[in-house]
Amino acid sequence: MRRVPFVESLRIIGRGSLNWLAERPIVVSLEVTDSCTCSCKHCDHGGPRDGSRNLKPADYKKYMEVLRPCVVQVSGGEPLLRDDLVEIVRTIKSGCSLPYTILVSNWSLMSRERYLALRGAGVNQFSVSLDFPDARHDDFRRLPGLYRHLSEVVPQLAALGHDDIVLNTCITSENVSEINRAADKASEWGVNISYSAYTFRRTGNRGYFLNTPEELAVLRRELDRVRQRMDGSHWIANSETTLEATRRYFENGGAPGCKAGLRFLVVTSAGALQPCSMQFKRYTLHEQARMVEEFTRRNTCDECYVSIRSYLDKSFPQLLWENVTGFLSFRPHREPELEAGRTRA
Ligand SMILES: C[S@@+](CC[C@H](N)C(=O)[O-])C[C@H]1O[C@@H](n2cnc3c(N)ncnc32)[C@H](O)[C@@H]1O
Ligand code: SF4
Ligand code: SF4
Repeated sequence: MRRVPFVESLRIIGRGSLNWLAERPIVVSLEVTDSCTCSCKHCDHGGPRDGSRNLKPADYKKYMEVLRPCVVQVSGGEPLLRDDLVEIVRTIKSGCSLPYTILVSNWSLMSRERYLALRGAGVNQFSVSLDFPDARHDDFRRLPGLYRHLSEVVPQLAALGHDDIVLNTCITSENVSEINRAADKASEWGVNISYSAYTFRRTGNRGYFLNTPEELAVLRRELDRVRQRMDGSHWIANSETTLEATRRYFENGGAPGCKAGLRFLVVTSAGALQPCSMQFKRYTLHEQARMVEEFTRRNTCDECYVSIRSYLDKSFPQLLWENVTGFLSFRPHREPELEAGRTRA
């Protein structure tokens, strides 16, 4: 993963520390649309939705001024459906290095032109969902041709050398035996990979959770192998503690201690604040403190361990340390020939 320049790293740590103390969110997820190009088996989105109440690009300015997040995830639905996405990113960044901005997308609508325009507007990291390292991805996402498109566009854009593309594989009972093959695919395409965990909270479907001792044994074996493949280049973007917590989450059937609403929150497409994408108690922009009092302090939900949680469940010192050494890739940049020679087998 591309390193974050030293001065920018210090800015992120500075703002993160202030937010932590002021009980403002570290990460904000902006769901810029509810519509989607896919209709995935594990998700509650899918197909077109009414976009008439969507926030306009300029509206995001006041959200950034009030919430002052360190990291923004631009998500959805499928964010690339917004024709004004570049403008939204420009407003989020307003010419500054912060917030560190991650576009979370299925990439069905990604092209070289859009990638370069979004980078130019300030996207720091492109998170690309990949559930299977082959055409089974189309079946799971219910979008024929998606895998073929990814297998063309991902390596083509990776070859530009910006090292800012990360595949995201959400672990389910369907693909748990494939997660190292997904890493092989990342390696083949010249990009990074990170893993997240399925929750049945979105759809109520427990079938994609890891329910049997056999599935859990496969998970342990696959994660051990993933751990062996991690190296200083940070091409597997999870920290070891996150992989370990992911295993515990599946084994225990949940993960307590969620800080939704406090350390992270969601801005819905129409501009309401929500603790997370699966809790629908809504607040206005200036009511985050009320959300913390009414929701976070009483929250007993332990039903997911999605990425946004996995980064922020930790203590402040641990989070700082992992950010310094891992998540935001603060490490010496390797020369291309060293990168090309790295072992990812
Ligand atoms: C909701 S999608 C929005 C962005 C974009 N449409 C995409 O798929 O990347 C964000 C992420 O949530 C993941 N996701 C969807 N349903 C999930 C579930 N039930 N449990 C865990 N992650 C889920 C997707 O795989 C994707 O990586
Ligand atoms: S996971 Fe993403 S691509 Fe799939 S239906 Fe949900 S929002 Fe759409
Ligand atoms: S564990 Fe937290 S982030 Fe996950 S669904 Fe429950 S409240 Fe939301």
